[in-house]
Amino acid sequence: MQENKETSTSELFYPSDEIIQNANIKEYDSLYQYSIENREKFWEEQAESLEWYKKWDQVLDSSNKPFYKWFVGAETNIIHNAIDRHLKTWRKNKLAIIWEGEPGDVKTYSYHGLNREVCKFANVLKSMGVKKGDIVTIYMPQIPELVIAMLAVVKIGAAHSVVYGGFSSESLASRIQDAKSKVLITADGGWRRGKITDLKKIANEAMSRSATIQSCITVRRTSQEVYMESGRDYWYHDLANHPVASNKCETEVMSSEDMLFILYTSGTTGKPKGLVHTHGGYSLYTSVTHKYIFDIKDDDRWWCAADPGWITGHSYLVYGPLINGTTIMMYEGAPNYPYPNRWWQIIEKYGVTVLYTSPTAIRGLMRFGEQWPERHDLSSLRLLGSVGEPINPEAWKWYHKVIGKEKCPIMDTWWQTETGGAMLSPLPITPLKPGSATKPFFGNELAVVDEAGNEVKPNEEGKLVIKAPWPGMARTILGDDQRYVDTYWNDYKAQGWYKAGDSAKVDQDGYFWVIGRIDDVIKVSGYRLGTAEIESALVSHPAISEAAAIGLPHELKGNAIHTYVILRNGFVGSEKLESELKEHVASEMGKFALPEKINFVEQLPKTRSGKIMRRVLKARALGQDEGDTSTLEE
Ligand code: PRX
Repeated sequence: MQENKETSTSELFYPSDEIIQNANIKEYDSLYQYSIENREKFWEEQAESLEWYKKWDQVLDSSNKPFYKWFVGAETNIIHNAIDRHLKTWRKNKLAIIWEGEPGDVKTYSYHGLNREVCKFANVLKSMGVKKGDIVTIYMPQIPELVIAMLAVVKIGAAHSVVYGGFSSESLASRIQDAKSKVLITADGGWRRGKITDLKKIANEAMSRSATIQSCITVRRTSQEVYMESGRDYWYHDLANHPVASNKCETEVMSSEDMLFILYTSGTTGKPKGLVHTHGGYSLYTSVTHKYIFDIKDDDRWWCAADPGWITGHSYLVYGPLINGTTIMMYEGAPNYPYPNRWWQIIEKYGVTVLYTSPTAIRGLMRFGEQWPERHDLSSLRLLGSVGEPINPEAWKWYHKVIGKEKCPIMDTWWQTETGGAMLSPLPITPLKPGSATKPFFGNELAVVDEAGNEVKPNEEGKLVIKAPWPGMARTILGDDQRYVDTYWNDYKAQGWYKAGDSAKVDQDGYFWVIGRIDDVIKVSGYRLGTAEIESALVSHPAISEAAAIGLPHELKGNAIHTYVILRNGFVGSEKLESELKEHVASEMGKFALPEKINFVEQLPKTRSGKIMRRVLKARALGQDEGDTSTLEE
């Protein structure tokens, strides 16, 4: 963090006059002040940018904290703002999605065309018995049908639970069960690094363990042979060609607070949390943050390179941009396939104006050298974005210089699955410090505090908290209100603050520097993994009796998973067993969870009450001071 401190005092990157003159928001301080002093009024005014079937009776209902409600009494459906209203304007014929498959195939949809496909898919879902209030699980590759399926589910009043296509059958099954989904939407496979993924096979395994599933709709993408169970499995193209799947479908009228989607994320216990987001507040928060932070204009070609299976994809690939009537770029495959210029080629070919990606992706592409981006004309870019983990100043500067040619400000946005949209972020007019997500977005008050809730001194490390509610916040954890309260709201109960689970600093200029997770969550290549999930995957292997997982710094991934295992009697640690265990974790959770290292140990540092002290393991691995070990029993 020394690096951060130095940066915070010495290096500032100022936006050009041209950027400031053209920005949607030209001044931060006064509007920010207004927005926190008149929070409800501010959001009410912003809400005028959306269309509502019926306006609210109350902007914010705080009567049952922390279960806040926004735009109470209002009627809406996010699809009305994301699609329907555009059809009444010239945007009807504007491109909504430009999609390129990894093999190079291209599909484009205007808002008119997107609406047609969404209506058709919605009618298919209705014919399968999907109703308002149901939760439909979606497990798909990055193809347009993934977005179309999400929108179709929501159009008819159901909620989606998108499970990222890299998850294992185990993870998919547990998420289907938690959501009690009756319908699963998947595809035969997808393309990744020139190979076909086994999506339907994994979905079949998951469904065999999920009693609630009655039917599965499969989109044909790769045309490989897949097993289809009669009476359960249907090809999407068969259903879509049936006369019931007409091109017209009414959008269901929803209450502002009705469930829009759930999205699972990792926490401190092994059981993933299904965070609930709702129609009204989320529509507003994603669209306003997208418009102001990325300075969205009608001629933009916006590329959020995240998978729609994560919150970044939900908020800034799908909903925020569609509500703003933006043209979205979408790409199916790996950034370095067939060559490390693939992304730069896409930017040049389609004239992408804003690129939003993760530090891991930037570091990964940086490794191949400047010669790859330099082969391409990237002059269409006017703004860049970063999300998912702290961006190290070196990667920031490469992104700024080599990709942005020193003319594109970088919007480093800090937020979480729970927050629905960006909470800390510069605007294009903000002087930037590499590695800092700068300041709170309008309406938000964030602080870095100690255990007691006192603000720590400038440049001192503390806990990041959010002091007031915002429209994009998750409303609860599906089926577990108590866990929602315990996880986020109990630490600062007296103050009523939300605990982010991150440590951070604020510098002398009020800039925030997020350092990383302080709970049992590890960010690996931007993926959010719970140590408990990794540990339970390990102990499900017959050789393991106990396991501990920690994250250690990694040049490309940000953090890598290091594990410590105690073997059962009769097993001996070996290289072969190490690779078997790594594969085992990957097959239990998904390839992105592949551990970097398995250490065979005799014992684990534990507290007297038997809790594994991961903090001690980490300090030892890094050769640092172990801190307070008075509770350690070894
Ligand atoms: O630790 C923070 C890190 O990602 C966590 C949230 O992960 P997830 O729910 O998967 O959402 C990621 C995409 C919004 C945070 O608690 N994080 C996210 N963005 C940043 C970040 N850390 C530092 N800087 C960021 N810009």
